[in-house]
Amino acid sequence: MSKNPPSLPLSPDEAWRRVHEQASAPYRQAGRFAWHFARGKLGRDPVFRGLVGRGLIGADRRRVVDIGCGQGLFASLLVTLHAMHARGAWPASWDATPALTRYTGIELMPRDVARAETSIGHLQPKPEFICADMCTAELPPCDLVVILDVLHYVDLQAQEAVLRRVRDSLQPGGRLLLRVGDASSRRGFAISQWVDRTVTRVRGHRVSPTWGRTLQEWTQLLERLGFSVRNIPMSAGTPFANVLLVADIA
Ligand SMILES: C[S@@+](CC[C@H](N)C(=O)[O-])C[C@H]1O[C@@H](n2cnc3c(N)ncnc32)[C@H](O)[C@@H]1O
Repeated sequence: MSKNPPSLPLSPDEAWRRVHEQASAPYRQAGRFAWHFARGKLGRDPVFRGLVGRGLIGADRRRVVDIGCGQGLFASLLVTLHAMHARGAWPASWDATPALTRYTGIELMPRDVARAETSIGHLQPKPEFICADMCTAELPPCDLVVILDVLHYVDLQAQEAVLRRVRDSLQPGGRLLLRVGDASSRRGFAISQWVDRTVTRVRGHRVSPTWGRTLQEWTQLLERLGFSVRNIPMSAGTPFANVLLVADIA
């Protein structure tokens, strides 16, 4: 873990307010929808602050693959966090996050890739956005794979095949951060599926069938693939049944 520079006295709430502001600002360049979407997602989805506040990213995981990256919010978040940390504007209770050496975002929808390129395509090091299906896209060697709310778009066999390729691309010390819905929590899972379909429509995409597993089934699958797994509920303040699986290469 890298040592924090001397910090200004910054509370986590104030730090997150700045992160929220700065990480969503580049999306103005891609229009009102992209900007409002970035603000809404960073502001209301507990996963982003949850990852930072719990120190789950890790300062040494510099090569990041973001599968189903949408408009690349996670890249913007990482670059913002690192810049704030370098300036010392950082709460004492937060662990450092990595100076990115390579970010690869894989996204099926050309419109999302275009929004990502317009908004944050100029950052340094330049994030790479690949418009491709995660089931076939090549995964480069990496230290961190992030898959947030994506795997349910493909069937159970394809989910396993993606996770197998993720495991093979992760280098020693590598980590997968996988957020899924827990299908055993029927009400929360049904609500998240309904919201998912609505958002898919609003973003101008066709709604397709989805596939879920229970938390126990996700855990067993990851363990069978050789990951050591822990789970963290990740839907605080929302009606969903989302869980973050932190899966490490043993
Ligand atoms: C619910 S959004 C989550 C976006 C992003 N991970 C986030 O948390 O902000 C799911 C994303 O996965 C993408 N996606 C769905 N199926 C995919 C596939 N087969 N390959 C790559 N991306 C896919 C969708 O287009 C969408 O952008």
